[in-house]
Amino acid sequence: MARVWVNEGAASELKRGALHVYAQNIEKAEAKDGDWVEIRHENNVLGYGFYNSKSAITVRLFTWEEESPEEVLARRLEETARWKGKIYDDTYRWIFAEGDLIPGLVIDRFRDTAVIKNQTLGLEQYLEFIAEEMQRHGVEHVYLKGKGGGRRKEGLPQTEKWLLGGRKEPVIIEEGNARFYVDVVGGQKTGFYLDQRENRIELERLVLEGDRVLDVFASTGGFGIHAAVAGGDVTFVELGRTASRTIKKNLRLNGAKGKVITADAVDTMKKMIRKGEKYDAIVLDPPALAKGRADISRAKKMYFLINELGLKLVESGGMLVTCSCSQPITPRDFLGIVQGAAEKTGRHVQLLGHLRGQAPDHTVYLPQPETQYLKCGFFRVE
Ligand SMILES: C[S@@+](CC[C@H](N)C(=O)[O-])C[C@H]1O[C@@H](n2cnc3c(N)ncnc32)[C@H](O)[C@@H]1O
Repeated sequence: MARVWVNEGAASELKRGALHVYAQNIEKAEAKDGDWVEIRHENNVLGYGFYNSKSAITVRLFTWEEESPEEVLARRLEETARWKGKIYDDTYRWIFAEGDLIPGLVIDRFRDTAVIKNQTLGLEQYLEFIAEEMQRHGVEHVYLKGKGGGRRKEGLPQTEKWLLGGRKEPVIIEEGNARFYVDVVGGQKTGFYLDQRENRIELERLVLEGDRVLDVFASTGGFGIHAAVAGGDVTFVELGRTASRTIKKNLRLNGAKGKVITADAVDTMKKMIRKGEKYDAIVLDPPALAKGRADISRAKKMYFLINELGLKLVESGGMLVTCSCSQPITPRDFLGIVQGAAEKTGRHVQLLGHLRGQAPDHTVYLPQPETQYLKCGFFRVE
């Protein structure tokens, strides 16, 4: 079996539960790129995983047991399907990479259709196997979304294709009292942002008949559709044309009406402020503004601006739902930004309950802190 020896620093990290070994911590490798390797420190075996000398994360640990890749993949797919299926039936983030102890692999399941994103070289040769395993759980179509910088860094090809079946029409999923089209081929990311599910359902609970609701950075309408289903009068703001078209389809699917503005969020909010518009509830769910530590200071300024504009548009006694999916921005940073924006705009904000996070199918694995990334606060504004 191929083997890799790691230094003492990496060994103590792995003993703590970490799943990554960086290039500088590899002492010796008797392995080829993509090999399933035994991970050793001196004479101790610390676990098993995949090796790639071309990646900054040179070894990714998958298991502490002596087992084959097929065994560990089948076991983890089975275990996660069991407990996630109990909460979410047949639509869930099946595998959340490091969060579910399968580094580099994301799988979203939308009823009979699954989408795979993979950034681990060694796993690529097992994707057909994974698709077959999923078929045993009732999945008929599996789409590989294989584009992006993460794959390039790993030396993986840029490719998008059906691994199983081939769905012609978008899937329709249910969430709370709302229904959504999910276009796994043409949509953003895997086709739908499942991480915000619980927060969207919470919004549906808090919107009253006739409330004026503004859903900014709406994507396919996630939050706003729930608000419309609850009887809200919703305006959506989304830059993407394809996503905006899907918002309209989702409105029709739910027998609801709403206004869709396909434009930049900041420009649109500034125009609305100039016109004196007010809303009873505003949702701000921008894309990740900080991907790494180097982006933090710029991202904080942007979050501040977005929240400042949002707060100016909320009616007194109304609600601000504000989110950040930037992992490097901590919950404490984020609350500080919202409070700072409140002070600047002369508003007073009260957090309803606690700062919320990602849905439970986006499992957080504490030794890999990047698995905890989403922050979502519901604030009453005065
Ligand atoms: C995190 S997603 C929103 C997810 C959505 N709230 C949901 O629940 O499905 C962020 C969205 O912001 C959009 N976006 C990015 N930059 C934008 C901009 N400058 N103005 C408006 N929308 C933008 C993206 O196209 C993406 O759909």
